[in-house]
Amino acid sequence: MKDLYILGIETSCDETAASVVKNGEEIVSNVVASQIESHKRFGGVVPEVASRHHVEQITLVIEEALKQADLTPAELAAVAVTEGPGLVGALLIGVNAAKAFAFANGLPVIGVHHIAGHVYANRLGGGLEFPLVALIISGGHTELIFMERDGSFELIGETRDDAAGEAYDKVARVIGLPYPGGPHIDRLAHESDGAVEFPRAWLEEGSYDFSFSGLKSAVINYVHNAEQKGQPVDKAKVAAGFQESVVDVVTAKTVRAAKEYGVRQVIAAGGVAANRGLRDSLAAALEEEGIRFHVPPLKLCTDNAAMIAAAGTSMYRAGVRSDLRMNGRPGMEL
Ligand code: KG4
Ligand code: ZN
Repeated sequence: MKDLYILGIETSCDETAASVVKNGEEIVSNVVASQIESHKRFGGVVPEVASRHHVEQITLVIEEALKQADLTPAELAAVAVTEGPGLVGALLIGVNAAKAFAFANGLPVIGVHHIAGHVYANRLGGGLEFPLVALIISGGHTELIFMERDGSFELIGETRDDAAGEAYDKVARVIGLPYPGGPHIDRLAHESDGAVEFPRAWLEEGSYDFSFSGLKSAVINYVHNAEQKGQPVDKAKVAAGFQESVVDVVTAKTVRAAKEYGVRQVIAAGGVAANRGLRDSLAAALEEEGIRFHVPPLKLCTDNAAMIAAAGTSMYRAGVRSDLRMNGRPGMEL
């Protein structure tokens, strides 16, 4: 069978990315222009700043992805692009670049859901075994998804307030760590020899939803109280306590979902899936249940375009095509 090369484009948040993937599973090129440095001083992503960066970078990033792949547009089968969800101004730049590229080169264009992309990152150098439960956990999302087979998504739980990564970033800011705070909290938590006890949000019995804003407030109150009393704050113990609370709840709910849905595999993706504490906890709990666990290498956990190309390949094979009236959809549902 002829090899299938698909160009992926991702601009839903603060990474301008393009990638060529072969047969939905092999990365041929993967270019990511990160804007972290520009957003750092604001402590989070500023939509207007993100859009401007995307405009400046998108053409260069696409050209670079093709150059590194050593392919001409004619050798591609399609262009896959993140259609949503995300920041509207950011999405529009990727979608319009994809449409223009596809139109100019006579290629079909396929709009991909960002979360489907995170899921299919697990097919790059790994494998997806259905039925599976996917934990998507990042700065914008915290979701549990049941996939009975390729291409079918059932949302079984999601955050009711902050995404886990958002809580990580806010807590990090309160204890004086740089943005993005997740990796710093992870490191401090590992160095700590104790932990402050913070609450766990289990919600109603049987619920697969999450809530992190109560935990975030508990940490903020703890730090402010200590400061008011002039007591020193042990940052490492705060980090460890916060992380324990997140990891306990996320692990327990993920494992319970995996058992209830009788899946063969659990996969994780999104920036927070890079968390060592969470990976170790999930791996240990799932091994005990005899359920396979897969998480992509760090680089593919965070936003990238290879995952969009991988998801787009699955859709391409299923005959899905978008048309040139496609627009960015900030609130797109899975
Ligand atoms: O997937 P991603 O790059 O972008 C979104 O789609 O949101 O995720 C970024 C998020 C940030 O909140 C960052 O703090 C968090 O992932 N993150 C981590 C770790 N590495 C990145 N959170 C906890 N532990 C980590 N090691
Ligand atoms: Zn993401």
